[in-house]
Amino acid sequence: MFFHVLLLFLLHGFGGELRGASSLGINYGQIGDDLPSPDKVLDMLMALKITKVRIYDTNQQILSAFANSDVEIIVTVENEMLGELMDPQQALQWVATQIKPYVPATRVTGIAIGNEVFTDDDLTLMETLVPAMLSIHTALSQLGLDTIKVSTPSSLAVLQESYPPSAGSFKPEITGIMSQFLQFLNTTNAPFWINAYPYFAYKDNPNNIPLEYVIFNPNPGMIDPYTNLHYDNMLYAQADAVLFAMAKLGFGGIEVRVSETGWPSKGDPNEVGASLENAANYNRNLLRRQMANEGTPLRPNLRLEVYLFALFNENMKPGPTSERNYGLYQPDGTMAYNVGLSSFKGTSFSPSSSSISLTSKATREMKGSTIGYCRSLVYLMFVYLITSRVFTRRLS
Ligand SMILES: *[C@@H]1O[C@H](CO)[C@@H](O)[C@H](O)[C@H]1NC(C)=O
Repeated sequence: MFFHVLLLFLLHGFGGELRGASSLGINYGQIGDDLPSPDKVLDMLMALKITKVRIYDTNQQILSAFANSDVEIIVTVENEMLGELMDPQQALQWVATQIKPYVPATRVTGIAIGNEVFTDDDLTLMETLVPAMLSIHTALSQLGLDTIKVSTPSSLAVLQESYPPSAGSFKPEITGIMSQFLQFLNTTNAPFWINAYPYFAYKDNPNNIPLEYVIFNPNPGMIDPYTNLHYDNMLYAQADAVLFAMAKLGFGGIEVRVSETGWPSKGDPNEVGASLENAANYNRNLLRRQMANEGTPLRPNLRLEVYLFALFNENMKPGPTSERNYGLYQPDGTMAYNVGLSSFKGTSFSPSSSSISLTSKATREMKGSTIGYCRSLVYLMFVYLITSRVFTRRLS
């Protein structure tokens, strides 16, 4: 009875959030020699109620292992293959062998054509992007698979300006091909995928950029002087900057989705901000926003779809220490830090204390508020419901 009264209260108070709560997306990178097998990873994703995953290739073991599960998967055509797949025959062959055998049992929902092609050191790669996308899209149509969306994740470095968001514009040297790319997205109703890391902006300029703004902690935020929109975090500002940049090329109607974002839990001494605490705060706060189905200030009613980077720490990634430490999880399935993702008991990957920690943190934040205990309790129940009940319902 007590539970039902609370439930009613919650549904009333948080109705929008509860009704449409969508799953969190996560990037499942595999550059490690100690990662669990795909079927173990699937168990882990199920326990965490994560049903959206992106991989960086078309790993056949993963596609097989994820068959008949609820997991939606975005696969990637590696950059090295774009040149070859410009050829329609090759593209048809590729879709027929790499994708077709696995669907519909495996829910492939998207194909990323390369990764960060617009900012790749190989300048000829960019020329192959749109032709390869067209060939793959045509091949999908021919094989009856054109519900699979084709796009490419771009680095935020495609932008010349990103601040304030209304000043968002693409680098002049890429606008020609960018326009062709946007034309393709607009025609096929596919999203623009952005890999956005506020961490990089903070690391490069920690004295001028407030940490709280970057990691979604309470802060005064900023107001875009041209739109008067208020931004309380950098990720939403970056997403809106992309929207403005597209609108300036005549494509204001394309959806922006965050194909990667994350925060390293460890870094080299010169990687300012890379820490366990900041990583936990960034991902936890973002997760909470995701649970609330938030849009950006420019598109408040359209949930900003986000894929976290990454599922695992990947010990074989080259580069600075941070590169190997973006994972929410260690390869053995234990949490790298507590991000507040819930799970059910009874699996080997069950991080049973995780939702408790999010709850107690939320409760702490509520202290001192005028509403006090009651609101804390509601919040606690909200978190509990969000992390267990809602997802159960969605899966049943
Ligand atoms: C984008 O697509 C919409 C809907 O199909 C269409 O009305 C619009 O003209 C397209 N925009 C451009 C610039 O092609």
